Amino acid sequence: MQSIPRDVVVGEVIKRVDWTDKIFTIWVRSDVGPYKAGQFTKLALPNEAGEWTKRAYSMVSSHQLTPNELEFLIITDDNGTLTPRLNQLSVGDEVYVGKTISGFMTIDEIPDYAKDLWLLSTGTAIGPYLSILREKEAVQRFRKIVLVHAVRYGNELVYPELTQQLIHQYEGRLLHVPIISREQESEVLHGRIPKLLLSGEIQAEAALDISVDYSWVYMCGNPQMVRDTAETLKALGLTKHLRKKPGHFSSENYW
Ligand SMILES: Cc1cc2nc3c(=O)[nH]c(=O)nc-3n(C[C@H](O)[C@H](O)[C@H](O)COP(=O)(O)OP(=O)(O)OC[C@H]3O[C@@H](n4cnc5c(N)ncnc54)[C@H](O)[C@@H]3O)c2cc1C
Ligand SMILES: NC(=O)c1ccc[n+]([C@@H]2O[C@H](COP(=O)([O-])OP(=O)(O)OC[C@H]3O[C@@H](n4cnc5c(N)ncnc54)[C@H](OP(=O)(O)O)[C@@H]3O)[C@@H](O)[C@H]2O)c1
Repeated sequence: MQSIPRDVVVGEVIKRVDWTDKIFTIWVRSDVGPYKAGQFTKLALPNEAGEWTKRAYSMVSSHQLTPNELEFLIITDDNGTLTPRLNQLSVGDEVYVGKTISGFMTIDEIPDYAKDLWLLSTGTAIGPYLSILREKEAVQRFRKIVLVHAVRYGNELVYPELTQQLIHQYEGRLLHVPIISREQESEVLHGRIPKLLLSGEIQAEAALDISVDYSWVYMCGNPQMVRDTAETLKALGLTKHLRKKPGHFSSENYW
């Protein structure tokens, strides 16, 4: 029996949904302290030699709504160390959860002047935004919220039911803009976020403009998307947010 690192606690997989052969969600019952919507912790497993691998994963769940059930949306990288093993987890299996909660991609970081909230994601990075949107009270202050989800293929537009439920709950204030890059689907934008922002196609789809006066943008996922989109936002006149010097956009890279 190998020893468990001090910075993790044991959790149990209580539910699993497979969206594609690589993308899945697990629900983990675990006694981890409170977290804010948009934050992340670590998942960890030992290998047969007793060596531990820990990686960061954002919570899709809301601590307010399901305090002891953490939900994680994960894509398997076949060449990766941890995700092929996470992909083998079944209900009843143990997985270890980091005690330290991290991340600043939260609603309380957004300056007061922001009236419209843009949530830009690639792949599994839609997860933290779903957590944010589940806590409706916290985003009550925004006039409009635009959830942009860019994926390679149509079947990677995960959580269709929750998305529809949220759109319904927000009564016109939540706009959903899916984007598919590697196949053509009628009615869905084709391409990549930076170019579609520069051309105004995302704004047209949401029927909302991006302005230095009232827009706030979070970007999450592929680091190259984050870099390229930051350049586009600067071209639109927006500035990077720093706690010392408030701006209009902030981000979280997934690798
Ligand atoms: C803040 C944060 C939140 C995240 N949240 C999520 C989430 O909610 N869902 C999610 O699916 N992922 C998330 N991630 C990504 C996650 O942490 C892992 O990086 C990812 O799951 C891959 O882990 P792995 O152990 O399978 O792959 P790794 O073993 O880390 O390898 C990743 C890939 O990079 C290559 N690689 C590894 N090391 C190197 C190296 N030194 N040089 C060059 N190439 C290398 C490997 O060949 C492999 O293809 C998040 C990351 C961060 C930072
Ligand atoms: N999705 C899969 O089928 C798959 C399968 C196995 C492994 N993986 C691995 O898993 C990890 C995550 O994959 P993922 O598919 O979730 O994420 P991803 O590779 O980041 O792709 C998600 C979306 O981001 C877009 N994108 C990539 N670079 C961009 C940039 N510079 N600017 C703007 N948009 C950009 C992609 O467009 P493009 O299509 O134009 O690149 C795609 O629409 C990657 O390391 C990937 O190699 C993915």
